[in-house]
Amino acid sequence: MKYEAKNCVMGGNALRAVTTLLIICVHVLALENGLARTPPMGWLAWERFRCNTDCKNDPDNCISDKLFRTMTDIVVSEGYADVGYEYINIDDCWLDKERSYSGHLQADAERFPYGIRDLSDYVHAKGLKFGMYEDYGNYTCAGYPGALGYLETDAQTFASWNVDYVKLDGCYSHPRDMDVGYPEFGFHLNRTGRAMVYSCSWPVYQIYAGMQPNFTKIIEHCNLWRNFDDIQDSWASLESIIDYYGNNQDTIIPNAGPGHWNDPDMLIVGNFGLSYEQSKTQMAMWAILAAPLLMSVDLRTIRAEYKAILQNKKIIAVDQDPLGIQGRRIYKHKGIEIWARPITPISNSYFSYAIAFLNRRTDGTPSDVAVTLHEMGLVAPGGYRIEDLYEDVDYGVLTPQTKIKVKVNPSGVVILRADVQPSFRHSTPFNPFRQIFRPGLPNTF
Ligand code: GLA
Repeated sequence: MKYEAKNCVMGGNALRAVTTLLIICVHVLALENGLARTPPMGWLAWERFRCNTDCKNDPDNCISDKLFRTMTDIVVSEGYADVGYEYINIDDCWLDKERSYSGHLQADAERFPYGIRDLSDYVHAKGLKFGMYEDYGNYTCAGYPGALGYLETDAQTFASWNVDYVKLDGCYSHPRDMDVGYPEFGFHLNRTGRAMVYSCSWPVYQIYAGMQPNFTKIIEHCNLWRNFDDIQDSWASLESIIDYYGNNQDTIIPNAGPGHWNDPDMLIVGNFGLSYEQSKTQMAMWAILAAPLLMSVDLRTIRAEYKAILQNKKIIAVDQDPLGIQGRRIYKHKGIEIWARPITPISNSYFSYAIAFLNRRTDGTPSDVAVTLHEMGLVAPGGYRIEDLYEDVDYGVLTPQTKIKVKVNPSGVVILRADVQPSFRHSTPFNPFRQIFRPGLPNTF
């Protein structure tokens, strides 16, 4: 998709006067497709609705035309679109078990009676964008026809359905083939002339197979990619993802940026497995991680407090910060973590920051954390204007020497925004992440 293929052949009579050389060059350039300048936001069926194809017994929850139209309506009518959620994405189990006689993908005719193009038109008519799922291998993970052997045809099919976003999974394929296969499908997407966000599962399958993914190539060809396990509806699953991103941050973080994002998987806020505190934690941490915000939740029944988390504009603004720098864990000790993400505005080469204090402890009472801004690497001489992004607390402008004190609930989070204030003192650029792995600091836990 991010390719421009240039085939140039110079030779013959016309050029003989200039050179007798026949130059054949095949020049393949990787180009930005211009999409996903900030992490994509939308709704994705998988985590909540899985592969429920039983429309006879469960007509309201099966993977069907009706489900996607309903979610489209709610994304618009309930304010999700207003705060930035724009993609309505189908995941696995939309397909018929067989391709058509002509070898084309076709939706299950009972569950999608009007066809995919009609559904895509509906989503577009509501002002949203439309996403589809396929798999690079012989089958999708749930056993439906995969794209192997049909990469060009399938890319064309998606384009003909006016698809805006394609998630290409990696089941039933060999991870070694992915270094060629994922770019090849991207090439065919690009050749259609329709701009489609390209979500890859390329690195996660290679990591599972013990390979070292070539992230230079992945960044070049994909707009987002999965690094780790599927999210499940539990705090344990969420913790394992947060740990993965923290423990591997030095290799993971540099790969993120405008147009190319690490994808820690769907938001499960509003489902069955997370408490209110844990749900706030996921939203805050996904913003720190510059993660795609793809809600997988039943928007018909979500409770107001969870909807408010998903629609928290201040946290969404952190997630969507135009610098696109992924945050990192800067402190971890006795169950307390501090994560920081450099964001705009920048003043005098000092970044602003989103700071998340995360409490992984289970001892039932909120933990006090006290730390100076300076200790977290916030050293701009003009100080920072600090506000809490969940609670209505404005700390005002604080100097780097000021000790900030927060109470963090068990399995909960406090997320702050620190906007750098202008200062006239000359400064030189510095490492935005000053490490503070000094055990015993902050000193209150
Ligand atoms: C894989 C992916 C999931 C989902 C399922 C569908 O497990 O990682 O996100 O798409 O396949 O079968």
